[in-house]
Amino acid sequence: MKTYDAIVIGGGPGGYVCAIRLGQLGVKTVCVEKEEVGGVCLNWGCIPSKALINAAHTYEKAHSSFATMGIKVGKIEHDANAMQDWKEDIVKKLTGGVRGLLKSNGADLIMGTATVVGKNRVDVTKADGTVEQIEVKNIVLATGSTTIEIPTFKFDGKQVIGAKEAVSLREVPKRLLVIGGGVIGLELGMVYQAFGAELVVVEFLPNLLNGVDQDCVKVVERKITKRGGKIYKNAKAMGYDKLPDGSLAVKIDIEGKTETINTDVVLVAVGMRPNSRNLGLENVGVHIDKRGFVPADQFGRTNIPNIYSIGDLSGPPMLAHKASKEGEIIAEVIAGHHAAKDWACIPGAIFTDPEIATAGLTEDEAKAKGIEVKVGKFPFAALGKAMAMLETDGFVKVVTDKNTKQVLGVHIVGPEASTMISEGALALEMSAFAEDLALTIHPHPTLGEAFMEAGAHALGAAIHIVNR
Ligand code: NAI
Repeated sequence: MKTYDAIVIGGGPGGYVCAIRLGQLGVKTVCVEKEEVGGVCLNWGCIPSKALINAAHTYEKAHSSFATMGIKVGKIEHDANAMQDWKEDIVKKLTGGVRGLLKSNGADLIMGTATVVGKNRVDVTKADGTVEQIEVKNIVLATGSTTIEIPTFKFDGKQVIGAKEAVSLREVPKRLLVIGGGVIGLELGMVYQAFGAELVVVEFLPNLLNGVDQDCVKVVERKITKRGGKIYKNAKAMGYDKLPDGSLAVKIDIEGKTETINTDVVLVAVGMRPNSRNLGLENVGVHIDKRGFVPADQFGRTNIPNIYSIGDLSGPPMLAHKASKEGEIIAEVIAGHHAAKDWACIPGAIFTDPEIATAGLTEDEAKAKGIEVKVGKFPFAALGKAMAMLETDGFVKVVTDKNTKQVLGVHIVGPEASTMISEGALALEMSAFAEDLALTIHPHPTLGEAFMEAGAHALGAAIHIVNR
């Protein structure tokens, strides 16, 4: 039997980061992965989708902006095969990089399926059927999450698909119907819309991207409909019939009325569920909550002190950067250092066109806490750099406490929102005030100036818009 100080089950952005950090801290560590290191994030989630999103954005810009900018490039065409080859190359480089980092930091990697058989024992079944028994002091559960299926829309891998297949399409569907107007549905829906697919979004709730600042969401919604897309809210996809020409007739219930929408491909994006089953957790009494999450305390510990839980498995938000940060913290805790989950916010970035990014409280959340808010807002339409990029849709919104002027939240929709939000997250971590944003010199001409101006606007002192 092999012995280790720590075993990390799952090699995604939570697990592999934890294993690398444990290795750096001199903790004898093994990481177990049953598919490929990098998890959903590197293999078919964050990174592959971002490659397609960037390709779609460039393609769309070539059509919408090049002529205005005086650039002539002849006929612009899209080759889905070449795009996929490029994307797969990126994935290979990154997963290879993770393997190298594990090794160079002294963490072992075993490919196989891990089962917790005791508080200090994990068995790993390898592809050839052999079982490796491992005795261990600490167990880190980092098994991530799996796409939720709708019983009436069972995945067939071709016409009824999930995100995994949607990032690997080698042909752009003529018509795409997305069930679920959440993050995946809108990100990938907009990719194929940019490449020419007729997009229909069917969302169960009254809003798209529920929980996100709806002023930001409206900007994205407008873009979808401006490009000819259709959005049905308060709508439920009931099932479908296959038509003689091979296409699908999808039945939608919209507030009690049934409509039929014909499409070529259905993308089901109604959420992810944590991978807490078939792990052997019941063997050791690890608590699994009603939704399937394995909750953890501020040190990442489950109800069993030497068993930790990370990332999607431990609870929302299901974001790679949250998982990675938890992985680092748990590694420190296992190494005996003082560390805890004491962040001020977990920023979010949604890679729609334009992007949406958020950190901290929305106006509604702040008001629900009984705080009087003052909002500062600066539109990209008033910013020279955004004009020079021909990307003027959107704004930066800063939510502050009306009395103290402390920054409570930052919400951005527009170009590079995902990059700019780090400044918002830093502002929240540093307990910044609107004055801090307004007084920090931001280089000109940059998109970041919108952040400075939004801070100034909250104080009634923005220079490049009228303060109301
Ligand atoms: P989601 O929770 O973001 O959205 C699912 C949507 O489907 C919700 O709006 C829900 O109301 C709707 N829905 C549920 N059942 C439905 C039905 N029967 N008919 C119509 N609508 C229905 O989940 P999504 O988009 O699948 O993403 C999964 C997870 O992955 C999320 O937790 C997200 O945080 C994460 N993710 C994050 C990304 C990012 O940060 N950029 C990118 C992609 C995924």
